[in-house]
Amino acid sequence: MMKKSILTGIKPTGQIHLGNYMGAIKPALELAKIQEFQATYFIADYHALTKMQNNAQEFRDLSNGVAATWLALGLNPEQVIFYRQSDVPEIFEMNWILSCFASKGLLNRAHAYKAIVEDNKKLEKDPDFGVNMGLFNYPILMAADILLFKTQVVPVGKDQVQHVEIARDLAQSFNRHYGETFLLPEYKIQEDTAVLPGLDGRKMSKSYQNTIPLFAEPKKLQKLINKIKTDSLPPEAPKDPETSILFRLYAEFASSQEVQEMKEQYGNGIGWGEVKKELFLVMNRFIEEPRTKYHELMSSPETIDKILKEGAEKARVMSVPFLQEIKEKIGF
Ligand code: TRP
Repeated sequence: MMKKSILTGIKPTGQIHLGNYMGAIKPALELAKIQEFQATYFIADYHALTKMQNNAQEFRDLSNGVAATWLALGLNPEQVIFYRQSDVPEIFEMNWILSCFASKGLLNRAHAYKAIVEDNKKLEKDPDFGVNMGLFNYPILMAADILLFKTQVVPVGKDQVQHVEIARDLAQSFNRHYGETFLLPEYKIQEDTAVLPGLDGRKMSKSYQNTIPLFAEPKKLQKLINKIKTDSLPPEAPKDPETSILFRLYAEFASSQEVQEMKEQYGNGIGWGEVKKELFLVMNRFIEEPRTKYHELMSSPETIDKILKEGAEKARVMSVPFLQEIKEKIGF
């Protein structure tokens, strides 16, 4: 059976929190385990360059940090093709070729760029103030990422759907000139079904500053859990698990038997302090092993590098001959 190719890029950004894990990383890792899929996940470091331009050490740490995070959480590099975008030079040749098939108007309509232009207009600045060409061309590089690997399915968040559509447009445009070459990728929206509540009960999100970092040390973890909002019911009062942030978080990390028992304790009356201790135990139990693995990897960047370089070699088994074929069609 030919496996279906799925591919997605991971932009290295700051500290990853438990909400990111539940909403994005966990579903992606589960998708990769499905037999009918060949998953390719890569670190979109050149995409990050459109915004992160001032500190080489920070850039390296972020890139290594996401790699270590995914590996620590169980990404199996034997099963998933896992590399750094910057280690696959064919992507950048592809990027240029595709840029010659991308009308400028199409990219003017890309939402990230459009939003900046709108903001600039409101502030009566030059419409392109603060826009570098990397940012403007972002969707083309993303199309190169996708098309060069004959990707069939792209799991993405809603905000990236337009980019996958642009990749389809560019594929069609090339195919019209040179005949069937690129597959038209489809997107698969990763719904944020697992919306993990944050410290204040709203969705856990960096912008609300209510997050629990994925690899928080035990003391810090306990401290953050102690901050979670509760009501002022006395310990002996029966409590409603349905409206309790603590309970919802507990349910994500505890076994079904533990959840059942906790429910009963809520009914009988349990103090919030007690629930917080129990929540710490189950969260820490979940985090412990990946946290150790994460720190091991981060203290050995050569190991991360080796894994990613091997991944890039696997990716290039596809990208080198395919790029060659594309160039021949063009007439190089
Ligand atoms: N733009 C994506 C994001 O911000 C990251 C990305 C880069 C990507 N290249 C990709 C996602 C290719 C899917 C496919 O999240």
